[in-house]
Amino acid sequence: MDKIVEISGLGKAYTQGHEQIIVLEELDFSISRGEFVSIVGPSGSGKSTFLNIIGLLDDVYSGEIKLFGRKLEDLDESEKAVLRLKNIGFVFQFDSLLPEFTVLENIEMPARLLGGDVPGSGLDLLKRFGLEVIADKFPMDISGGEKQRAAMLRALRNGPALLIADEPTGNLDRHNSGVILDDLKRAAGLGAAVLMVTHNEEAARRADRVLRMGGGKLSGGPANAV
Ligand SMILES: Nc1ncnc2c1ncn2[C@@H]1O[C@H](COP(=O)(O)OP(=O)(O)OP(=O)(O)O)[C@@H](O)[C@H]1O
Ligand SMILES: [Mg+2]
Repeated sequence: MDKIVEISGLGKAYTQGHEQIIVLEELDFSISRGEFVSIVGPSGSGKSTFLNIIGLLDDVYSGEIKLFGRKLEDLDESEKAVLRLKNIGFVFQFDSLLPEFTVLENIEMPARLLGGDVPGSGLDLLKRFGLEVIADKFPMDISGGEKQRAAMLRALRNGPALLIADEPTGNLDRHNSGVILDDLKRAAGLGAAVLMVTHNEEAARRADRVLRMGGGKLSGGPANAV
């Protein structure tokens, strides 16, 4: 299986006043194409910090990270920007749709930013996921579950090889959580590596592999061992 992300000896600390808060320490991790991995762990254990680093939103860390076989330290800022737009889809922990644009416009945004002809269309995605009825609505006029799913379709728009989701089922009821998890599984089935953080143990178990964040590290265990 080809590795999408390979990380060794990852460290991350925040400085607060004169104090250093160590969040990640000697962390190793990898994920392959088509794999769905979930991460669980207490609040404040560093899950979002970890996702932000992998998603190229934070480049202050120690250790080695390879994305799609390329060392991050060898890439300049513009290469990273293209990589992020083209190959990485990010679903954020908190509502992130742009309020002044419709759902469809939000979903099309990554393709417009990338420029050129990005295969597929936002409307096709909405149709495929049974959401075409909300295409022309604004974020304030749809439900929380629909917002989460629209944010996920936006993350999928450019056909990313890596889909990162931070608490995609947060605040959703069981039915809507199930729908989102089905979407994530489908994305993995289509070949993406899917990495999800969740506080919901039932959601975590839907993944192929469940990892626990604690003490600055990720520890493994087979799925169902949550
Ligand atoms: N920008 C920052 N500056 C200083 N400390 C930070 C910063 N961002 C996060 N932290 C600290 O780093 C630790 C890890 O935060 P992080 O957001 O990664 O946790 P988390 O596991 O995602 O938690 P949650 O489950 O609540 O989302 C926490 O102690 C947090 O206070
Ligand atoms: Mg978090």
